Amino acid sequence: MEHELLKIKNDASSLIIAAEDEQELNQIKLDFLGKSGKLTQLVKEIKNVPEERRPEIGRLANEILASVEDLVETKLNELRGRKRAAVKKQILDITLPGKKPQAGHLHLITQAIEEISEIFEHIGFTRVRYPEVEWDWYAFGSLNFSENHPARDDWETFFIDAEPDPRMGPMILTPHTSSGQVREMERRKPPIKMLNIAKCYRRQSDISHTQMFHQFEGMAIGDGVSIADLKGTFDFFVHSYFGKNRKSRLRPFHFQFTEPSVEIDVSCGVCNGRGCRLCKGGWLELGGGGMIHPEVLRNGGVDPKKYSGFAFGWGVERVLMMKEGLELDDLRILYSNRLDFLEQF
Ligand code: DAH
Repeated sequence: MEHELLKIKNDASSLIIAAEDEQELNQIKLDFLGKSGKLTQLVKEIKNVPEERRPEIGRLANEILASVEDLVETKLNELRGRKRAAVKKQILDITLPGKKPQAGHLHLITQAIEEISEIFEHIGFTRVRYPEVEWDWYAFGSLNFSENHPARDDWETFFIDAEPDPRMGPMILTPHTSSGQVREMERRKPPIKMLNIAKCYRRQSDISHTQMFHQFEGMAIGDGVSIADLKGTFDFFVHSYFGKNRKSRLRPFHFQFTEPSVEIDVSCGVCNGRGCRLCKGGWLELGGGGMIHPEVLRNGGVDPKKYSGFAFGWGVERVLMMKEGLELDDLRILYSNRLDFLEQF
């Protein structure tokens, strides 16, 4: 009995596997599992098996029935899938245009950096880059911050675990692009017009801060450079980047490395300066700037009696948000590599 059951299982399986179409498969199903099918008939004979072996043979028969039914089901799915594919093949229209490969694009911050560089290139600023891993001297010391000056705390600096240099101080991750000022003065003699765009790092991470961000730093040094040049440069940028109808204004401020120091505001693009929920009374804060402090010029080997200059430093992420009116719930999404976000730009 056992032997016969296994033989029928084998026969059924080979036939099912070889079936070419649904009709043939149905016939095989009938031949084995139908009312007078071979397997059905054999199962009926289990009652004649000696009683002590009956449960065992019964279990085997059930297993075989289930496995043959399963195999029929699987084969049926396969045959139907084949049929669908064949239909598809018939309606394949080779004159249809092919699928375009998905093309990537520059990150929106890179796009902003390129746009900003181009604007400043028009008025003679040359793009430079200075180290992200920097000496304290260039980021702070040379910019008039004494060693324990509390203003340093505003820059939330990362320190590198390395031996401090006797002259340059500790090694840090640059917290602002102003570290390029004295480096540029050491590299070139006036007249100088530089644009330093770089990654900066500060120990801040929340919805409006990322630990790595970008700044662009402009610096112009020459004979008789005045605050009027600074205002003219700001206006040029504001008109080119934000639009002709936007205005800029200077507000007195304090930085260690500029005298006088200013903060620059741009008129709000949403309410046109009238005041709305987006801006502070019609103006949005762009960033800092000022006339370079004579001590900073001296630190860069430039004679403040002969030359003067201005500098400014603004955040790339910030100007981008101000331009696009992007209201990101969390700034960190910019660097999250989330394609659903990035593909929108
Ligand atoms: N470095 C400053 C900051 O990160 C911004 C800044 C202020 C840059 C005044 C300048 C400047 O060049 O003159 O907040």
